[in-house]
Amino acid sequence: MDEVLEAFRDVRARTHVDGTLGAGGHARAMIEAHEEMEHFVGFDVDASAHALARPRLERARAATRGDEATTTLRLSLVEANFRRMREALRALDVDGVDSVVLDLGVSSMHLDRAERGFSFMNDGPLDMRMGESATTTAEEIVNAWPEEEIGRILREYGEEKHWRLLARRICERRAEKEIRTTRELVDAIGNVPGKWGSIHPATRTFQGIRIAVNDELGAVEDVIPAAIEALRPGGRLAIISFHSLEDSIVKRRFRHFAGRAEPPSEEVNRYMPQPEAPPKIVKLITRKPKVPTSAEIDVNVRSRSAKLRVCEKL
Ligand SMILES: C[S@@+](CC[C@H](N)C(=O)[O-])C[C@H]1O[C@@H](n2cnc3c(N)ncnc32)[C@H](O)[C@@H]1O
Repeated sequence: MDEVLEAFRDVRARTHVDGTLGAGGHARAMIEAHEEMEHFVGFDVDASAHALARPRLERARAATRGDEATTTLRLSLVEANFRRMREALRALDVDGVDSVVLDLGVSSMHLDRAERGFSFMNDGPLDMRMGESATTTAEEIVNAWPEEEIGRILREYGEEKHWRLLARRICERRAEKEIRTTRELVDAIGNVPGKWGSIHPATRTFQGIRIAVNDELGAVEDVIPAAIEALRPGGRLAIISFHSLEDSIVKRRFRHFAGRAEPPSEEVNRYMPQPEAPPKIVKLITRKPKVPTSAEIDVNVRSRSAKLRVCEKL
């Protein structure tokens, strides 16, 4: 939280966008810290996040703006995927923004509610959609996707080293009986070879399936150019990611907009002309990602793998 506030300390955040409202923690802190804010735009795909965040933001607005609250700070809450940012801002007549925050991934509300199907600790239907707009569910993936595709998402998105074995176990189990609940999926996965330390054997499988259900990496790819395009000069974009693939997308996209040419791929002959550097439209504020201190991790275990990257529009 402090790092996010710090990233925007010197920005006049008249129009602020929070792409991942969740329970409204970051949003509220930004409203409180930036009295100059005139328009707050918050996205979340999940209707229950809006139900929780809206009253909190209204209270923060009333507490910091007094009687003039509703006329001095406009709150626009958009129930949509942040990858629709360009169209949504246009529909709200926003012609430039000063600050954008994205705090990627699921929220504790998702994990704590068994009926959402995100948690291997609670039994629930195999759903895992963050919002109703997702076009597939975990149940569909687990029961209908080919074994190779399940293996691929476990390997790529779950970073599961036993992907081949676990994809096979899932497919063997579903041939006997459809897998319909989180508990049934945990049973199908069973134990995995080797030492697991503190992480549950189903952790990586659940992560891989969740990322596929919500096309989380595709959404990050899409939103970065849209957010950078929306920024006014001097405006900043801050992204917190929890997954190495997300962080590598953010790193690559930020470097691209900072005018760095992609390193040539292995196959490209070194005597071939090098790719041209793209135009530089942002500067990198964090050259290396910021990671939480051990004190922060003690207070919030989820922050353990968080990485924050920030860039500024030129
Ligand atoms: C980690 S939580 C955000 C927590 C929030 N920053 C806070 O302080 O309470 C992530 C939220 O973003 C939402 N989300 C994730 N991906 C999204 C996307 N592509 N578009 C819109 N919302 C998304 C999730 O539904 C979840 O509520």
